[in-house]
Amino acid sequence: IVDIKGGVDEGLDRLGETLVVRGWVRTLRAQSSVTFIEVNDGSCLSNMQCVMSSDADGYDQVESGVISTGASVWIQGTVVASQGSKQKVELKVDKLVTVGVSDPSFPIQKKRVSREFLRTKAHLRPRTNTFGAVARVRNALAYATHKFFKENGFLWLSSPIITASDCEGAGEQFCVTTLFSNPSEAVHSPVNAIPTTQDGSIDWSKDFFGKPAFLTVSGQLNAEIYATALTDVYTFGPTFRAENSNTSRHLAEFWMIEPELAFADLEDDMACATAYLQYVVKYILENCKEDMDFFNTWIEKGIIDRLSDVVEKKVVQLTYTDAVELLLKAKKKFEFPVTWGCDLQSEHERYITEQVFGGCPVIVRDYPKDIKAFYMRQNDDGRTVAAMDMLVPRIGELIGGSQREERLAYLEQRLDDLKLNKESYWWYLDLRRYGSVPHAGFGLGFERLVQFATGVDNIRDAIPFPRAPGSADF
Ligand code: 4AD
Ligand code: MG
Repeated sequence: IVDIKGGVDEGLDRLGETLVVRGWVRTLRAQSSVTFIEVNDGSCLSNMQCVMSSDADGYDQVESGVISTGASVWIQGTVVASQGSKQKVELKVDKLVTVGVSDPSFPIQKKRVSREFLRTKAHLRPRTNTFGAVARVRNALAYATHKFFKENGFLWLSSPIITASDCEGAGEQFCVTTLFSNPSEAVHSPVNAIPTTQDGSIDWSKDFFGKPAFLTVSGQLNAEIYATALTDVYTFGPTFRAENSNTSRHLAEFWMIEPELAFADLEDDMACATAYLQYVVKYILENCKEDMDFFNTWIEKGIIDRLSDVVEKKVVQLTYTDAVELLLKAKKKFEFPVTWGCDLQSEHERYITEQVFGGCPVIVRDYPKDIKAFYMRQNDDGRTVAAMDMLVPRIGELIGGSQREERLAYLEQRLDDLKLNKESYWWYLDLRRYGSVPHAGFGLGFERLVQFATGVDNIRDAIPFPRAPGSADF
């Protein structure tokens, strides 16, 4: 028994051998004397072409229509050189067994179906070329991520999914509670089911964690704890944001990679982000050739050249102030007007990478402190922080990072200015009390990386089961 990748890759060396393949029928074509059955098992993009003549064992299943697109099959055959131009070898079928029939209503028939339609069929879409290829490249990017950090001496850290703190302070957290979770009470009388204090507010002390708890928006604060003990660490896990933004680059549940470097400043952080991106892109160009060729032909023409440039060229760096100047000079009319101090919108980010720098990734650094999170290190000018975002074409922000404020007095002042409760950050402040070090890190949205690396234009096609406003199916 071989997987189809093995059968296809080593086919020419195995001519004459008997092999068994198992998979799902992609297409079935009957010709006068033989029937061609294309089988795929997800190990690669290619199908195994199986050629069946009427004397083969199991031919009755083809003749009677038991086997159709979508059916699962077990096929034993002899490897022979193929006459066709699409494949080097094919299997001459000795025996075919239907493992599971497929009802004629199978929605993914041969004709090309739109990705919008496939989003409503998330349980069957991995059986298409596009979603199979995206899943394999996503897997390769995850593997290359761990490989990069391992080779560079980073320790992988599991950060918690449930947390009481809001790292980004943007109030975009999903609340986790058992107060509403008695189904019968919640259905019939949700309000009465919630314990309240005398003033009528929710009595969180009666809840599971004794206070409000949330799904994490970032593992960064936890990564800082470990980086200030074990030096370089990274997290790679699911992250949640209740942003009500129905865009092609936002998910409610996404995976984030968050390295945190100790004894490091913003320069080290930007160097790490650049090296990481170049490493994983190079990895897929070298190891996912068949899938990348597919994307290059069908999803984004020229993607291979675009990604090769990422590996070879330097990443441009400029300050936020310079970026604003470029935008003010732009001929393009933006929906959101630009002034120094405004947050860059996706249209601005894209203009910078696509129009100004010809589609190369760009790092913008030193953002105004008022539009950035509390933990970022203040620059000497008093009005900017040592932050950096990496912007890429079509997507905009791929990476957001910063050097962290390691000076206790500055951090306390910042928490006060933002009216954040210092007591709840006591442990974070402790890291600045006991052996504080300059440190820096970044967060990379893994699905945006998958978009960048495959060319799929909607982030909902870059994760197996997208979670977005109004959609939590499958
Ligand atoms: O810029 P963000 O909010 O930064 C942080 O969370 C920091 N704590 C990271 C750090 O320094 N450790 O998010 C980081 C990245 C963004 O650049 C983007 O790629 C991705 O996470 N991201 C999302 N991806 C998909 N859907 C969303 N709703 C996202 N929000 C952020
Ligand atoms: Mg950001």
